[in-house]
Amino acid sequence: MSFSGLIDKFSPVFDKSPYQSQEPLVRIQYVQRGNNIVAGRTLTNENYSNLIFIGKVFENTVGRNYLSADVWLDTTFPHVIYITGTRGSGKSFDLGVIIEGISELAIPSAIQNDSPPITSILIDTQSQFWTLKYPPNPSIPENKVQLDDLGKWNIKGNSLKKCKLFLPAGHEKITGDEEFFSIRADQIKPEEWCALIKEDTYSPQGHIISRTVDELSSDFDIADMQAFIEEASNWPGINDASRSAVLYKLDDYRRTGLFSRDGLQLSSLLVPGQCNIFLLRDLRNEDKALVTSFIARGLFTVMGAHHKKLKVDKFFSRDGEGNGLPSRVWLLIDEAHVVAPSDSQSPARDALVEYVKRGRDAGLSLVLATQQPSAIDDRILSQVNVTLSHRLSFQADINSAINRIPTKLLGSLKLNGVEIKEFGDMLRFLDSGECFLGDHNSSRTVMIKVRPRVTSHGGYSPI
Ligand SMILES: Nc1ncnc2c1ncn2[C@@H]1O[C@H](COP(=O)(O)OP(=O)(O)OP(=O)(O)O)[C@@H](O)[C@H]1O
Ligand SMILES: [Mg+2]
Repeated sequence: MSFSGLIDKFSPVFDKSPYQSQEPLVRIQYVQRGNNIVAGRTLTNENYSNLIFIGKVFENTVGRNYLSADVWLDTTFPHVIYITGTRGSGKSFDLGVIIEGISELAIPSAIQNDSPPITSILIDTQSQFWTLKYPPNPSIPENKVQLDDLGKWNIKGNSLKKCKLFLPAGHEKITGDEEFFSIRADQIKPEEWCALIKEDTYSPQGHIISRTVDELSSDFDIADMQAFIEEASNWPGINDASRSAVLYKLDDYRRTGLFSRDGLQLSSLLVPGQCNIFLLRDLRNEDKALVTSFIARGLFTVMGAHHKKLKVDKFFSRDGEGNGLPSRVWLLIDEAHVVAPSDSQSPARDALVEYVKRGRDAGLSLVLATQQPSAIDDRILSQVNVTLSHRLSFQADINSAINRIPTKLLGSLKLNGVEIKEFGDMLRFLDSGECFLGDHNSSRTVMIKVRPRVTSHGGYSPI
């Protein structure tokens, strides 16, 4: 597959930029024909399949100038992509751009270059991504602006073809089109329960909940856990106050409706090409983390076993039964510091650490967005291989974000003729939608402008 049919499909959009980098791009995955740059893999054998369009280079480069080159992101390999930036800098927008790229669209679009749709799960902590289901509506002023912008890029409005919205059971619907979901209590691990009730595993309450889960073993719900804990004969020598405390906390969970016997089956999400959006705004942070943990753990378990079997089948040249599972899944998490904070217990942390460790062999990618890079657990970030660094202000956040950029930082940049030497200061001056792309296949960070969204953007009514 080549870019040939797609050359000049997007407009140049801009022919000048206030940014002038002072350091040449010694190494970059560049395709001269059509002026394309690829992130996330090394280009070999003129293979340009599995690419999604994310934006354009927005710096004048000293030496060969790459200004306005189209920037594509690889979808062949499992990636860990880290998006950082202050409020309003464009992080959620980027998540939308990536989902549009990997999902099945209602109308074939040039933003996908021979890239078959990929199943995705989005942890939408602000419940704002339901608009991905709808094309921009010209009668809504904000969408009209978006359509004008798309026109400038020569890209058409679009919508996701297979998009499912999930809402915690009993919560107020947004579009009316959401499915309610709950989680089975017997699928939560003892350490996740401990994180939920904010107790250490080795504390008296932690011990009570861990033993309860172990004893009940399988096929139980919260009422069964409560009954087991209430039965005094099960707890010789254990303080009544500790048992009561666990009972209160469990009762709180019983009332949220988040748990039920007919909880979510992960297999219902693993439909090839489907985008599953979990609208979690109204949940408490620890519950958002629990849902994330449940999904991440389910994914590496199911997909890990799937890929192991595929490898064995391939080794013995067996056909392998198609079990209908997709070969790749992307998990995207907005406001990742909420579900995986470094400073407090979270049910999602261990699951996400395991997810990134096992992801490569299981066809699993992870995309994390955060406005507080310094507040996110570092072990999850150990495998980051692509970064999108938007505007940041606080030095602690700048330091943390920079630490994870998988290539050299740009050393010198002129903005409207004034030289900036510190990379942190370069980040401070970015406008929304502008960011530095970090990819270890390029010799340094490259400034890009993210493309407009093709689906309706913002929380506007699609009707
Ligand atoms: N690539 C872009 N092109 C055009 N407009 C953009 C782009 N990126 C962001 N914007 C504008 O900036 C606004 C804020 O972007 P976004 O919601 O992604 O911010 P955020 O970084 O997720 O902020 P928060 O931390 O508050 O969630 C968008 O609603 C949009 O108007
Ligand atoms: Mg956001």
